[in-house]
Amino acid sequence: MKKVRKAVFPVAGMGTRFLPATKASPKEMLPIVDKPLIQFAVEEAVAAGITDMVFVTGRSKRSIEDHFDKAYELESELQARGKDELLDFVRNMIPKNINCIYIRQAEALGLGHAVLCAKPVIGDEPFAVILADDLLDGKPAVMKQMTDTYDYYRCSVLGVQDVPRADTRSYGIVDARPVAERVEQVNAIVEKPKPEDAPSTLAVVGRYILTPRIFHHLENVKPGAGGEIQLTDGIASLLSEEQVLAYRYHGTRYDCGSKLGYLQATVVFGQRHPEVGPAFDAYLKTLGG
Ligand code: G1P
Repeated sequence: MKKVRKAVFPVAGMGTRFLPATKASPKEMLPIVDKPLIQFAVEEAVAAGITDMVFVTGRSKRSIEDHFDKAYELESELQARGKDELLDFVRNMIPKNINCIYIRQAEALGLGHAVLCAKPVIGDEPFAVILADDLLDGKPAVMKQMTDTYDYYRCSVLGVQDVPRADTRSYGIVDARPVAERVEQVNAIVEKPKPEDAPSTLAVVGRYILTPRIFHHLENVKPGAGGEIQLTDGIASLLSEEQVLAYRYHGTRYDCGSKLGYLQATVVFGQRHPEVGPAFDAYLKTLGG
């Protein structure tokens, strides 16, 4: 029985909604207080027992590689200044047994194409896909909830939540029927339908566990919504031969691909922050309502 050991992080998007901040730096490096979004995503994967982190990168993504790499100059500077606590912190950002693998997506042809780029590294194993701009705050970590679901049902699992009908055109939307608490069997999935065409209001968030059979389907799908090779279309095709489940995760999602969601996450994580939380909370109270 194969465990989910690998996660794919598609990080080649342009991040146009955050320009100019994302002109020379990837949106996944935007910090929530002091931690970049991509690090939250990797920590969630680590919490699910995943050891191989596969980043599908594009141009201007060097800072992600540097972020997870050893920083010799910074470490020797911190050592020289006797900043032992910070030194420990940067040295142990991710556990020692974690492998980071980088694949370059030469052309931004869509999320499905980005996932397909990871095929040579994933091989014949189930794997996770994590979109770092969806920040999911859950206990246990949402990906851990999903790998537990995978271990039980042994098929692809999509993280889902209900959204307002007016918002269906921002998501992959599933038509599904409940099979257990929080678990539904997917009958159909469509990418970004208009509210009047959406089969339901159950939306896929940026968390997937997929069987390796998805690659065969991604190799054969035609460009879909927005002229891109869509992961959703690959999953729709996978449904013709395998069961796919939707899992209603426990937790809160911050859509950090939008400015409002990003600000909401910043406020919540700011209030919780061990160093500045109490002072920030006091400040928010002075602002009143
Ligand atoms: C992508 C997927 C979409 C999914 C969404 C979750 O869209 O294509 O199916 O619902 O992520 O955040 P994007 O937000 O990249 O346009």
